[in-house]
Parts: sequence; structure tokens; C-alpha cells
Amino acid sequence: MDRRYRKAIIAANWKMNINPSEAKKLTTAMLKCSSAKDTSVVLCVPAIDLTIVKRVLRQSRIAVGGQNCHYEDTGAFTGEVSAQMLYDAGAKYVIIGHSERRSMFGETDEIVRKKVAAAIRAGLRPIICVGETEEQREMGITEEQIRIQVKSAVYGLDADDFRKVVFAYEPVWAIGTGKTATPEDANEVCKAIRACLREKYGARPSRGTSILYGGSMNEENAPALLAMPHIDGGLIGGASLKPEAFAAIVAATK
Ligand code: 13P
Repeated sequence: MDRRYRKAIIAANWKMNINPSEAKKLTTAMLKCSSAKDTSVVLCVPAIDLTIVKRVLRQSRIAVGGQNCHYEDTGAFTGEVSAQMLYDAGAKYVIIGHSERRSMFGETDEIVRKKVAAAIRAGLRPIICVGETEEQREMGITEEQIRIQVKSAVYGLDADDFRKVVFAYEPVWAIGTGKTATPEDANEVCKAIRACLREKYGARPSRGTSILYGGSMNEENAPALLAMPHIDGGLIGGASLKPEAFAAIVAATK
């Protein structure tokens, strides 16, 4: 990552793991991560855990985030959680457009765009996930796929709002599989994301945007990935449930 322009962000994605009754213990064990200077640490937790996690983190610099939100601010949407609710519960970030949401819950690029706008309206920083499938990579259309996802996610965002945006490049084939993109390949895609953002917002804003890598990132592969110039942090699934591993990844940003 290029420290001159961007702060590192290491974000945990607990996914649908960790009950409220378990959240306090895991969060307490995560407190040691907060000592990392110049690195933002975020725990993106199930909505029902948010209040408990936030309470444990009260005195620390670790932020909390949601994993999804609805694109409307309020209304008759049984079972949904709005961006405003996440914000009110203490969240600073929200993951939007994770590939699990796209593939299993029918989230289209259009829905992702509306959720990004809702997150920003509510005062949250969206962590927008983009990534290609294995087939798309084999067909050689990774960059085309990423460009469509990136451009539609920020469509309609003005320069001010764009400053709040964080991207996460998560190749679908690397998520939860133990397969990681090589640091060089991951860097190439993150660089392409930045180039795409530069076309729309110009050199300075795109240079300042944090672009994370996600997909089987762990304490072993993190140092090499984080050493790449266009990778500014990580979005961590499995390893974020293990405090030691997660702390080691945070430490690798130094
Ligand atoms: P894993 O780290 O378990 O591969 O998950 C990555 C991810 O989906 C983070 O959002």
C-alpha cells in the first residue's frame, strides 16, 4: 500500500457466525489489535451483535460495521435492517455487494448502487465488494467484469460522497476456498479498480481511495499481499474469527 496517500484498513467479516452470547468474548480478544497505529481496524458483525460489540469496543479505536443494509431508509420491509439503524447502533462502515449477497440473495449491480447511496446518506462508509468468478477469470474478462461492478456502484455519487467509499476486491473463487490470488494478480486488479475510479473522479480522489483485498487472506499470506502498492488492506472472513490470526494480519500492515 502507498502510505503517502492512504490509510490501511483491516476489516473483519464475521459473516453469519458468532451469536450475541459469544460476541463479547471474541471482541474482547480482538482488543489487542487496536494498538496498530495508522491502520483502521473494523469488525463487520451480524446486526444483532452490533450493540454488544460496540459496547466492548467503547474505549478502543476499533470501529464496527454491518455486513449489509436495505436501500430504503425506513418502511415496510419485514426482516430488513436499514443503514440508518446500523449507524444509530454505532456502526461506521457497512459491507455492500458481497459476492455471497450477489450470488445467494439476488443482489444486482443496480441494488448495490442503491445500497451504496443509502449507506452514504446514513453517514456510513460503504465497503463495496467486487470480484470475478472463476469462469470469468478463465475467459479473460476479469477486468471488464470489475469495471462494470465498480462503475455501476458509484454511478451518481458526487466527489464529496465518493471520499467515503472503500472498495474490496474479492475474487469469488478465492472466498472461503483456501485459494488466494497471487499478490501480483490481486495488485493488478486493484490497480485496474483505481484506474477506473480515476477516469471518473480524477487522480487525487482515486489515489486516496482504500482498496482492500479479500479471499482466504490469513496471517501467512497477508504480508506479501499488503506489500503490494495498490492493496491497502484486507477484508477477512475465516481468519477474523481467530483473534491471534487477525491480530497478525493487522500487524502485517506496519
Ligand atoms: P475468507 O477470508 O473466509 O475467504 O472470506 C473472505 C470474505 O468473503 C470476506 O468478506
